[in-house]
Amino acid sequence: MDDVVLIDHPLVQHKLTLLRRKDTSTNDFRRLLNEISTLMAYEVLHDIPMHPITIETPLETMTANVIDGKKVVFASILRAGTGIVDGMLTVVPGARVGHIGLYRDPKTLIAVEYYFKMPGDLAERDVVVVDPMLATGHSAVAAVERIKEYSPRSIKFVCLLTCPQGIEALHSAHPDVPIFTAAVDRELDENGYIVPGIGDAGDRIFGTT
Ligand code: URA
Repeated sequence: MDDVVLIDHPLVQHKLTLLRRKDTSTNDFRRLLNEISTLMAYEVLHDIPMHPITIETPLETMTANVIDGKKVVFASILRAGTGIVDGMLTVVPGARVGHIGLYRDPKTLIAVEYYFKMPGDLAERDVVVVDPMLATGHSAVAAVERIKEYSPRSIKFVCLLTCPQGIEALHSAHPDVPIFTAAVDRELDENGYIVPGIGDAGDRIFGTT
């Protein structure tokens, strides 16, 4: 699959298996999602720009590279995206965070926007859009479309799980946006849930079932 990065590191896959189980508690689900997101950040940000600075080691002066965390924006699709942002901030604490509120109309499954707040100067920043589930792709397509209005330097999409329909939807609307995921599951069911999946990501993160 073009531009789909499957993060199949054993640490990620092990934690994903524990998280999928229906008897995993809210507390454990949240912790596992946080840990997986931290590990995924390593791969997602592998090409993040760096710049040299001059430092003093105990022995001499040298030039060494640092990243500018402030150039990275984690754009969270509410509400479940929060679960991924928290983990990613562990490794890039200086990143900016944007929010886009979209809910799925239960009948049409179409994304309806109710909130949009991004940092200024998006044109100078690299945006990582996050949502645990890339299912129908409606929310992801709408979120990326809105963010593109501000012409950021780059856009990536990160999810925990997706399925062939989600990938197809996002890539046909935005072929320039790479997808990073920990799994590509079998399919969508008739209610738009990924199967075998994890159920409703928001409910499992926030304990609202
Ligand atoms: N959103 C979820 O929370 N779960 C799915 O399986 C699909 C969309």
